[in-house]
Amino acid sequence: MNRILVFCGSPRRGGNTDLLADAFVSGARAKGAHVEKIRLIELKYSPCIECGGCDETGICILDDDLTKIYHEIEMADVVTLASPMFFYNITSGSQALVERAQAFWIRQYVLQLGKIGGKTRHGVFLSAGATKGKLLFDGSLRVMRYFFDAIGGRLKAALLIRGAEKKGDVKNISGALDRAERLGSCAASSGDYSRVKGIWLPGG
Ligand SMILES: Cc1cc2nc3c(=O)[nH]c(=O)nc-3n(C[C@H](O)[C@H](O)[C@H](O)COP(=O)(O)O)c2cc1C
Repeated sequence: MNRILVFCGSPRRGGNTDLLADAFVSGARAKGAHVEKIRLIELKYSPCIECGGCDETGICILDDDLTKIYHEIEMADVVTLASPMFFYNITSGSQALVERAQAFWIRQYVLQLGKIGGKTRHGVFLSAGATKGKLLFDGSLRVMRYFFDAIGGRLKAALLIRGAEKKGDVKNISGALDRAERLGSCAASSGDYSRVKGIWLPGG
């Protein structure tokens, strides 16, 4: 799985999920993958405006910085979203990206145009939150499942770090960055994420 697209949804540069994403990227690059990391905060784009413009074509009519990203998603073998928890959810920038996947959903499920980019891709979710509640990531995992499904993928694994609040806290959480790096390595090679301990797996 050679082409990996990593979306970073935190507004905080060099924050906890950025660090997880960087470790993931370095694990993937070490296995020879072509990796593109996109910080969503640096793009200008709108959430879905529910105009119905994609209903007939499966193509979003909005013309903004996400326009060229659709093609990147089509080409990707693995799509990763790294987002912190904001009010028990992914960030608004991440959610806007998720909503814009509606055009892909229409393509697959309404127009039945087949697999996005002709292949099924893996989805990986990296997240961090300050608190330690059991349910902290539950809602977002469901969103990720449907996001990755819409873009022609499957949510294959997630790294969910609790108790990380201040910038850089993930560095002090035992094994967090190591697990992110191993996930990147698996994403770029076997795709067998079950080899990484301490992560979330579907049905696990
Ligand atoms: C607006 C806002 C809302 C937050 N909401 C939550 C929350 O609901 N649960 C939680 O555990 N942490 C919450 N946090 C803390 C962040 O998830 C935490 O600091 C995280 O490590 C930030 O990741 P980052 O450095 O990648 O931005 C919130 C932080 C902000 C700024």
